Parts: sequence; C-alpha cells; structure tokens
Amino acid sequence: MSAALMLGRLLDTELRVVRRLRRHGVMPHLLGLWVRRHFHRAGVVLACGGFPLASIDDRGGRIEVGSCAFFPGVRIECWRGATIRIGSGTYLNRGTEIVAAHSVTIGRDCKIARDVIIMDTDQHGIRGGTPPRADVVIGDRVWIGARAIVLKGVAIGDDSVVGAGAVVSRDVPARTVVAGSPARVIRTLLEGG
Ligand SMILES: CC(C)(COP(=O)(O)OP(=O)(O)OC[C@H]1O[C@@H](n2cnc3c(N)ncnc32)[C@H](O)[C@@H]1OP(=O)(O)O)[C@@H](O)C(=O)NCCC(=O)NCCS
Repeated sequence: MSAALMLGRLLDTELRVVRRLRRHGVMPHLLGLWVRRHFHRAGVVLACGGFPLASIDDRGGRIEVGSCAFFPGVRIECWRGATIRIGSGTYLNRGTEIVAAHSVTIGRDCKIARDVIIMDTDQHGIRGGTPPRADVVIGDRVWIGARAIVLKGVAIGDDSVVGAGAVVSRDVPARTVVAGSPARVIRTLLEGG
C-alpha cells in the first residue's frame, strides 16, 4: 500500500472518530468501554444516558456485538455454551432484557424499545425438568415497541414492527406489523415504503 493511500485511510478514520465523538459525546464512549469488556467481539459500544449501566451476566457463553448502544438498566444474560449476537446500529433502550440459553440473534439497525424482553428459553419446564428452549432470530431494521415480549423459537423478518406490549409467540414475516397478545398481524408494509 502506498504512503499516500495509508495517510488517506488514517485521516478518514480520524475524521470518523471525531464525528462520532462530537455526535454522541465522550462519556457514553468511556462507559461503553467498561461495558464492552464483557463481550467476546465488539465494535464501538456506547453506554448512553446514565446509570445503572447495562449489566452483562455471562455464565460461560459467547456475546458478540457490533457498534451498538445500550441504555441504562439493560440486562444481558448468556448461559453456558449460549451465543448472543447483536448487529451494528442496533440499540437496546432502558430496562431491556435478553436471556439466551442457546442462541439469540438480533440484526443490524434494530430499535429495541424500553423494557422489552427477548428470551430463547422458558427458564422453567411446565412440569419441572429441563426448561424448553428454541433459538430466537430477529432480522435487520426491526422495531420492537415498549414492553413487548419475544418468546423462544420466534423469528422476526427484516423491517418488521412489533407493537408495544405485544407477546410474540410465533414467527413474524418480513415487513409486517404485529400487535397484541398473542401478537397478530395488523398490517403489511410495502417494500421500500
Ligand atoms: C404497532 C404500532 C407501530 C402501530 O401503529 P399504527 O400503524 O399507527 O396502528 P394504528 O394506531 O392505526 O392501529 C391499527 C390497529 O391496531 C391496534 N393496535 C395498534 N397498536 C397496538 C398495540 N401495541 N397493541 C394492540 N393493538 C394495537 C389498534 O387498536 C388498531 O386496531 P383497530 O383497527 O381494531 O382499531 C404502534 O401502535 C405501536 O405499538 N408503536 C410502538 C410505540 C413504542 O413502543 N415506541 C417505543 C418507545 S421507547
């Protein structure tokens, strides 16, 4: 690589860093470094808006996040051997909780509103025994409204919207708005619309 190209790349990176710091402030970046230490792989993590900071309960799993923002009170619980992946551009708002017994994947640029719960396990069996579990996969650009619950085994397609307070127990196709308990389709969104 030529010296000019290297210098160009360096300046470009520096500009991006300055722009990001200007936009979000220094403190969320510093707190983000504190939160980030729990992750096996991470982009630029922002811990926004005060205390309590996001708490990460890693019980021997693997947590990989892109460049994400975590608001106060977020809690991430990753069981032994489980995986949690969160794509870049996604934020988890206040009080949101994620529990993974095996695998929870959240895509890029998702808006997860406050007090949402996403879990891939019931954490108890109905008659005791091993709690049932099934992977949760949330696509890109999904908006999950406040206090919604996403239960085990659910896949939510790209660009979909989950209404506030919904209990999502079945898959949601791409570009679909669901609401209620159990969540039902209330609207289909046009591509690019
Ligand atoms: C799902 C949502 C996006 C739908 O908005 P919308 O397209 O404008 O929907 P409408 O208000 O036209 O409602 C359409 C129908 O769905 C129902 N509905 C809308 N949202 C609902 C919800 N969260 N739960 C149950 N039913 C809902 C309405 O009552 C209405 O029913 P009707 O046709 O029988 O009268 C919106 O209602 C919502 O829940 N937004 C999330 C807000 C939020 O949590 N923000 C994050 C803050 S941190």
